[in-house]
Amino acid sequence: MLEINRIRKTFNAGTANEVRSLQGVTLSIDEGSFVVVIGTNGSGKSTLLNAVAGTFYLDEGSIDIAGTAVTRWPEHQRARYIGRVFQNPFSGTAPTLSIAENLALASRRGQSRGLGLALGSGTRARMIEAVQGLGMGLESRLDNAIGSLSGGQRQALTLLMATWLKPKLLLLDEHTAALDPRSADQVVRITDRIIARDGLTAMMVTHSMQQAITYGDRLVMMHRGEVIHDVSGPDKRRLCVNDLLARFEEVRRADLLDPSAAALLRARYI
Ligand SMILES: Nc1ncnc2c1ncn2[C@@H]1O[C@H](COP(=O)(O)OP(=O)(O)O)[C@@H](O)[C@H]1O
Ligand SMILES: [Mg+2]
Repeated sequence: MLEINRIRKTFNAGTANEVRSLQGVTLSIDEGSFVVVIGTNGSGKSTLLNAVAGTFYLDEGSIDIAGTAVTRWPEHQRARYIGRVFQNPFSGTAPTLSIAENLALASRRGQSRGLGLALGSGTRARMIEAVQGLGMGLESRLDNAIGSLSGGQRQALTLLMATWLKPKLLLLDEHTAALDPRSADQVVRITDRIIARDGLTAMMVTHSMQQAITYGDRLVMMHRGEVIHDVSGPDKRRLCVNDLLARFEEVRRADLLDPSAAALLRARYI
């Protein structure tokens, strides 16, 4: 479904600020797979998601989504296939518009503007049902401005908007990181439910080890722009938080060694 083939991206190439953010990442992701992505700060997780979304062009490599080569497609063209949710609860929605108006915008994505936000009764009924499904009591507040909601409620709605048109691919970049633990838990459970219900293919970056072991059917760990662990199926189900912490510790120790020793140490654990 998603084929990421030997992609490379270096920012500020040839300057003192050169960063090799992706150093030859290859991932083949099956339709309906829910991939959790973890890794240390700056390991290239967001850059990987941005590469898929087309935020920038690759230096090398290729990306196919559902059998279509999108490597040279600009971001807005790929947006037809992709739903995204970011960390900041204020980034995904229009704060002065109501819940219903935001959902109406989501349902019109990719169509011409100028249709206004008038809703047919069928659309309104679907909205009420969808918002009810979040279990946040928002169905009675459909005409309230999104700006009046809590961070968790906003992220849940952003999720609803990002998945309204059942995208081929859902990209979540630490979308619960800015929330209090209870809201984070609630939003990740809603996420899991929507992905399962619609059979979506998803990549979710998280810094929560608990989320990483609980959710998804595959776990990818990144380090220095490379995938250093890729676990799925029964192996993924057997993982516990301590296993992941141990892997972060290995990486940290490897980083203290010289680069060739670090590569050897990493190779042992792949
Ligand atoms: N647009 C950009 N310009 C310059 N450097 C960038 C850009 N995007 C990411 N980087 C750098 O690439 C590296 C990986 O970043 P990122 O993918 O955001 O890491 P993370 O795993 O924390 O999400 C970091 O060193 C970051 O500073
Ligand atoms: Mg990031």
